[in-house]
Amino acid sequence: MERSLPLAQAHSSARETPHWTLDWIDFSRIQIEAVHDNDDLFYLLVSASFVESGSHTYTRNLVAHFDTQPQIADWLQSQWEPEELQHGRALRTYVQTVWPEFDWQTAYAAFFADYSRLCTVEELEDDRALELVARCVVETGTATYYQTLRDLTAEPVLKDLAERIRIDEVQHYKHFYRYFRQLNAERGLSRARIFGALKRRLNELRTSDSDIALRYVWAFRHAPNEADDVPFEQVCQRLYRRVGALLPMEQAVKMLLKPLALPHRMEHVIERPLARIARKVMAA
Ligand SMILES: [Fe+2]
Ligand SMILES: [Fe+2]
Repeated sequence: MERSLPLAQAHSSARETPHWTLDWIDFSRIQIEAVHDNDDLFYLLVSASFVESGSHTYTRNLVAHFDTQPQIADWLQSQWEPEELQHGRALRTYVQTVWPEFDWQTAYAAFFADYSRLCTVEELEDDRALELVARCVVETGTATYYQTLRDLTAEPVLKDLAERIRIDEVQHYKHFYRYFRQLNAERGLSRARIFGALKRRLNELRTSDSDIALRYVWAFRHAPNEADDVPFEQVCQRLYRRVGALLPMEQAVKMLLKPLALPHRMEHVIERPLARIARKVMAA
């Protein structure tokens, strides 16, 4: 029997209520003074807004990859992409409301020029079922990231927004996981191969999207010759430590292990080494 996802508060996979829209968020109610001087939040929100806003590059690649699976390709185009782009718009609006002095558009354009070159089909797992495993890793990462953001702040508008996005990311995870199960019913991939894909994507999380995004946030944050500029590596270390300490690691590991469909006992054996890898990913 399939065990339920370890997120009791997650919505059911069928959408019973309309998906939220940007005008549901009252950006005029943001308590600007409560967040403006929080440098960590600035970096975490702007970098997230960049990666989310660049989602259309990924969709194109993914849709092409799943051209033989119209059900998956349709969902990617009609639901996944609009939702990811909406995350980008919402976060961008939040950033521009709190930090109007930051030139979001110019910084994003520079980021995107670099980022879009790196998003190629070659980056995807050759095996489609394994790519769905990799997508589960990415959505686990985003779901836990927004949960951390939600817990990191007391500002009500941001708390609400982060929670809305977190719920979407959990739904994305559930979709990718369900599609994986469908495909793997035919493929019957070994656990070793599934674990290989999990590990590969987990290790890539650190060196990919968020690092590129953070680099551009950092570069456009300050004037080039500012004397008291904090080095990029130092900013990254600080952020990874801060986020790493708050990440709901156990929950993340449970989500990561789900595609392996391990017997209970084996799950316990493997949970710890995987949590160690995940922590290393964050702390390195
Ligand atoms: Fe997202
Ligand atoms: Fe997502």
